[in-house]
This record gives sequence, C-alpha cells and structure tokens, in this order.
Amino acid sequence: MSRSDENGLPRVLISPAQIEERTAELAQQIDRDYRDSDRLIAVGVLKGSVFFMVDLLKRLSVPLAIDFFQTSSYGSGTQAGEIHIRKDIDLSIRDKDVLLIEDIVDTGYTLRTILDLLRFRGARSVRLCALLNKKAAHKVEVPIDYCGFEIEEVFVVGYGLDFDEHYRNLPYIGVYES
Ligand code: IMP
Ligand code: MG
Repeated sequence: MSRSDENGLPRVLISPAQIEERTAELAQQIDRDYRDSDRLIAVGVLKGSVFFMVDLLKRLSVPLAIDFFQTSSYGSGTQAGEIHIRKDIDLSIRDKDVLLIEDIVDTGYTLRTILDLLRFRGARSVRLCALLNKKAAHKVEVPIDYCGFEIEEVFVVGYGLDFDEHYRNLPYIGVYES
C-alpha cells in the first residue's frame, strides 16, 4: 500500500489545523504555568523544532528569552546514545526557568543529554515541551511536561522535521516511506 499521495508527497498524519489547535492548547497551559516567572528562557533544539517553537512562542504572553542548541549523534562505531553538542546555547541559564522545545522524542538520548546538562549548569527549573513523542521507541526515560501528540514508530517529516534535509517546510506532519 502506498503511503504517499499522487504528487509523491508524504501521507498526512497530522494536519495544519490539528497542529494549530494543539499548539494553542499547549501555549495556554505554558502561559498559565509560567505566569509568575520573570526568568523564562525558551531553548530550542535546531533545526527540527523551529517551526513549532515560533508558532508556540508567538502565543505566549509571559516575558522570555530564546536560545538554541544543535546536536548530532556520533557516527557508527561509537557508543549508542552518545550525543555531540554542535552548537551550545549562548545565554547563562543559572537560576533560570528553562523550557526546552523539541520536535520529537525518539530514543530519548538527545533530550536526556540536554536535560542533564541544563540541570548540571544550575537552572532553577527545567521542563520539556515536545511536539511529538514516539513512546515505544524510548531507550531512556525522558519526562515530557508538555506533549503535542503521541505517535507510532513511523518516520515522520514536515513542520520542521526532515528526511536528509528534505520536507522541513511541509505545513503538515506526514509519514515518510522510502
Ligand atoms: P532521539 O533518538 O530521541 O535522540 O532523537 C534524535 C533526533 O532524531 C530528533 O530530535 C529528530 O531530529 C530525529 N528524529 C527522530 N525521529 C524522527 C522522525 O520520525 N522524523 C524526523 N526526525 C526524527
Ligand atoms: Mg531534532
């Protein structure tokens, strides 16, 4: 069975309207939870989280700063789960409330590494907001405070997510099948 439509585009899993509605709900919850914070920093993980991050943060009224990490997994031949920080955040997060924003939690290695690092550096609080969660794929425990959608173990693209740098600008989340 083909998972793509006639134009060769990935089959829609989550539509733009569904993304928008869920993002608005998450933003409302986050706005409420941080209403008394005067030290919020939203930290995105490049590049996959940018579409979601922008749409989410535009809806918040709490004052905040933004910053970014970029990570990659080490190539084959090294320990599974070893994460390389290619770009570190610029801001100090000591005594700050950090809201980490990620596109998807798959094995959990990336987020586990970043969460540990943020705590080690003395953040006052650290919470995770992930658009997508592949719960069945987790290899390490990662508590998600704000989760957009739970999905099956399929490879998804669009709305920031890529396959080999393709499809990031699709307005929806689709299932990629090679
Ligand atoms: P981790 O396995 O939880 O460390 O996820 C690492 C990264 O792999 C995520 O931040 C995504 O950038 C990427 N990734 C995992 N699953 C998918 C997917 O289904 N589509 C696109 N990228 C993915
Ligand atoms: Mg990512």
